[in-house]
Amino acid sequence: MEKYVTLANGLEMPMVGLGTFKAEDGSSCYNAVLAALKAGYRHIDTAMGYGNEESVGKAIKDSGLSREDIFITTKLFPKQIGYKSAKYNLHESLKRLGLSYVDLYLIHWPSANAQVNTHTWQAFEELYEAGLCKAIGVSNFNINHLDRLLASCRIKPMVNQVELHPYLNQKPLIAYLQNEGIAVESYGPFAKGMVFEDQVLADIAKKYQKSVANIVVRWGMQKGIIMIPKSVTINRIIANFDVYSFALTEEDMKVIDGLNLGKRLYTDPDNCPFCPTTEYNL
Ligand SMILES: NC(=O)c1ccc[n+]([C@@H]2O[C@H](COP(=O)([O-])OP(=O)(O)OC[C@H]3O[C@@H](n4cnc5c(N)ncnc54)[C@H](OP(=O)(O)O)[C@@H]3O)[C@@H](O)[C@H]2O)c1
Repeated sequence: MEKYVTLANGLEMPMVGLGTFKAEDGSSCYNAVLAALKAGYRHIDTAMGYGNEESVGKAIKDSGLSREDIFITTKLFPKQIGYKSAKYNLHESLKRLGLSYVDLYLIHWPSANAQVNTHTWQAFEELYEAGLCKAIGVSNFNINHLDRLLASCRIKPMVNQVELHPYLNQKPLIAYLQNEGIAVESYGPFAKGMVFEDQVLADIAKKYQKSVANIVVRWGMQKGIIMIPKSVTINRIIANFDVYSFALTEEDMKVIDGLNLGKRLYTDPDNCPFCPTTEYNL
């Protein structure tokens, strides 16, 4: 099993990373990131909106690992969408992280106004060309948002990070992204805890002598999807990374695919209360 997904520009993105949404700034987030890096994770997903970039940056520094060996993603705060603020806010994120570049910078949420996404994306292209991010992408973009962005961009997004788990397998969006050469990244892999109540997943986990968390992460990996399970619990962080010592059979992959309900548990990008339709200007 490959440990990386190669992005359209050749950059290798580790297939498994640590999510940090709701990992509280301070010791909780710091200890989680440090433990993850010690356990072998080389990919951390944060965001301006998570308010924990300082703790992430401090843990990276204290890990003793080389900067080039760690893949860091951050995201532009949804309310700050816009050309000027994208530029300003990446610099601010870098200051908080204590880094000179991030590996991946994402538009966290799309605006319903396609022009706002286009302007913001122009700033992302320029930040990428300036070397402040090694790759650029989007998050929570559906096919309509992407159609409009792809019609106007110079550089295609390299990643789309979206809600994706056994109950929302995003099949049409995955087919679209794969056709466009855009890597698929899942968030919310544990479906707000639903996977831990699922007898089908429990039975599969028992068969492989792994946890349900391992089974879900491995299911995504075997589809070529980048997975970023979050935990601030040290023993879970370590155990969740045990995804390279086994492989799911095609049959079990199909059983998990069969759990799809088309069920969205997070905010619907088409009906997002915090995505401005006008550009934020400083
Ligand atoms: N782009 C976006 O709009 C967006 C939206 C949401 C999330 N994300 C990203 O995706 C990451 C993952 O999504 P998420 O954090 O929402 O949800 P998640 O990773 O599906 O689930 C995290 C929850 O599962 C618990 N957990 C972790 N491992 C477990 C285990 N082995 N057994 C039982 N419970 C376990 C965690 O608890 P403890 O922490 O208490 O251990 C936490 O409550 C985020 O952290 C963030 O980086 C992005």
